[in-house]
Amino acid sequence: GRIAVLASGVGSNAEALAEACEQGRIDGRLCVVASNRPEAAVLARASARGLPTLALDHRAYPDRATFDAALHDALANFEPDLVVLAGFMRILSPAFITPWRGRLINIHPSLLPRYPGLDTHARALAAGDREAGATVHFVIEALDAGPAILQARVPVEVDDNPERLAARVQEEEHRIYPLAVQACLSGRVRLAGDRAELLGRPL
Ligand code: GRF
Repeated sequence: GRIAVLASGVGSNAEALAEACEQGRIDGRLCVVASNRPEAAVLARASARGLPTLALDHRAYPDRATFDAALHDALANFEPDLVVLAGFMRILSPAFITPWRGRLINIHPSLLPRYPGLDTHARALAAGDREAGATVHFVIEALDAGPAILQARVPVEVDDNPERLAARVQEEEHRIYPLAVQACLSGRVRLAGDRAELLGRPL
């Protein structure tokens, strides 16, 4: 399968996906790593691996709809089977989401439906939660509200802080995102209406 990764930052999840492809845990390859931030480390890391990259600076577009349309067209050129958001820090509009519906997934650093949006780890700690985690989900028009594909849980430690908790959650992100991507590519999981439908054993 052909996987397009969209990321805005460091790109540790993109790296985990690239490694999983190289090691055969994902039957596919990254056909492009794209970013809305030309200076993002994720692009340099992808280039260093010899992967195709695409930088589309959102500041060069007059509004969200124009950027989203340009992003859609640019990605479509790479003919991805699956579009994977990995720390992509732009809200996507229906103009982008609708054409990729069912082939567009995201990883979010909380146990959704708890804590959609930003600052998830600080919010989990402030609420006194005893566990935190990450969720891979299909992207639908409502932010961080699409049906879950896979979740990972980690304990919150005594005297935890958002940075340490984030690091603990990220280790799990790197483990579950390749599993979810492989499940989507192989057809083991799919978006059916507004539900994620799983065929066979749980992931
Ligand atoms: C991840 O924690 C992801 O869940 C969140 O942004 C972070 C991206 O990290 N949405 P990286 O760029 O993959 O290292």
